[in-house]
Amino acid sequence: MLNVYSRAVRLALVPIRRRRSGPGLSVLARQLVGAGLWLMGATALAQTGDDVERGRELYMRNGCFSCHGTVGQGGERSGAPKLAPDTYPFEVFKLLVRTPREAMPRFDPRYVSDEDLLAMHRYLSAQPRATAAREIPALQSLMR
Ligand code: HEC
Repeated sequence: MLNVYSRAVRLALVPIRRRRSGPGLSVLARQLVGAGLWLMGATALAQTGDDVERGRELYMRNGCFSCHGTVGQGGERSGAPKLAPDTYPFEVFKLLVRTPREAMPRFDPRYVSDEDLLAMHRYLSAQPRATAAREIPALQSLMR
């Protein structure tokens, strides 16, 4: 998605670069290009939000939540590690899901595509970071 987006931005910028040596673009043309870029930016942002929601849905449907917790907080009994919000870079994440090291079931690309994994990765990365214990007033007295 991001690639398509940045390609579109580059394509939109071509006429500006080409015309630099000649007479400048008219004000109207510049404003049109500007509005177009703004619109594409807004669309890309909206799609990222959709992707996180799609990722959440896939994470639930594929049962990842049953071991790793609904927000990737890690499993209490299964020993499945915490996955959010600081999970591995996508390529490593993918490798670990395709070829798990021990108890985790393997998720084959026939059933869970790379695209689906990317959406799940976005969902996990979008989780808010937990507040550190030392920043929670009720816990501070216990930590002295
Ligand atoms: C049956 C329980 C179970 C399910 C279901 C499961 N996992 Fe896991 N997962 C584990 C365990 C246990 C590990 C630790 C490595 C191992 O034992 O293979 C792990 C490891 C991982 C890791 C590596 C994390 C690390 O810090 O090493 C990732 C990434 C991961 N799982 C993602 C997923 C995703 C995404 C799904 C759903 C598509 C999923 N898991 C479904 C149990 C599970």
